Amino acid sequence: MARVLVTRRVPNDGLQPLLTAGIAVVQSSGPMSHAALVDAAPQYDGIVSLLFDVIDGVVLDAGAAGSLKVVANVAVGHDNVDVAAAERLGIAVCNTPGVLDGSTADLAFLLILAAARRASEAEADLRSGRWEGGRFDSYYGADVHGAVLGVVGFGRIGRAVARRAAGFGMEVIHHTRTDTGVAGWTPDLDELFARADIVTVHVPLTDETRNLIDARRIALMKPTAVFVNTARGLVVDEEALAIALEKGQIFAAGLDVYQREPEVHPRLLAAPHTTLMPHIGSATSATRIRMTQLACEGVVAVLEGRRPDNLVTPR
Ligand code: NAP
Ligand code: GLV
Repeated sequence: MARVLVTRRVPNDGLQPLLTAGIAVVQSSGPMSHAALVDAAPQYDGIVSLLFDVIDGVVLDAGAAGSLKVVANVAVGHDNVDVAAAERLGIAVCNTPGVLDGSTADLAFLLILAAARRASEAEADLRSGRWEGGRFDSYYGADVHGAVLGVVGFGRIGRAVARRAAGFGMEVIHHTRTDTGVAGWTPDLDELFARADIVTVHVPLTDETRNLIDARRIALMKPTAVFVNTARGLVVDEEALAIALEKGQIFAAGLDVYQREPEVHPRLLAAPHTTLMPHIGSATSATRIRMTQLACEGVVAVLEGRRPDNLVTPR
């Protein structure tokens, strides 16, 4: 009987594909350390991992010495998995593309609106009794409707955000490496940063996108601009972003992802006009169940010798 390790608590409903296929499921009750993953890897045919698990070459080498055939990450991003090592070792890697686009785009839009309208600061004042009634000149924000939205990365989630922007009468410009053929594409990321009223980031974390948004690029933004990141923290120089907010070089920021999660840069915590979420882009019950199911369907397919659609490697 095949055995699959699930590294964290996930929605039970999502595990159904494994159980239906007659696979023995061992679910860790809490986070597993890297050492525990290395110890466990050779004992399983498959691992269902989360993005907090570092599935590096050491874990994969250990798995390959045993019976490990597939790692399925319950996330669309797979920067926590050493895909090159998996490819070399013949271990398949799956992810969860598509099923979280709507939820993540909704969250990106929440951050766009909350940051532009200073919602976190205004609500914190109300809750703490600092709301001074009768003032007409406070909590001025920036309009979202009619603004120019710059979408960095125009894949599944970037496009879902753009669709939402249409309802707000926004002009959408976007940047990718390859021409999308869609109106508003620019090959020049600097131009997007200079033109946009609101920038929202939707690229995967890769060697190319690490620190893509550095101090120089942030300095290209308008002083009225809003910056939103629901992609990965390491795509952005957080210190430079915090300094730009402190100095009023940009107006506001909305973030869901950070360089060293769950730690958040102290200057970001203290920066004005920020809305900060704890990496909850896909966190609705329906989406998290669907993501878990999709990852498990990938495991079952690989273990049954079929090729799942959600395969990262082999390509
Ligand atoms: P996707 O469909 O693969 O889209 C990625 C886009 O980024 C593509 O348009 C791609 O176009 C572009 N891109 C890749 N490398 C680039 C580069 N160096 N410069 C410019 N553009 C580049 O991915 P997705 O499903 O939309 O997901 C995007 C990311 O969102 C995930 O990888 C994950 O990190 C993050 N995410 C976060 C949450 C959350 O909870 N906050 C939830 C889901 C996903 P080209 O290849 O043509 O350049
Ligand atoms: C979440 O961050 C994901 O990549 O699915």
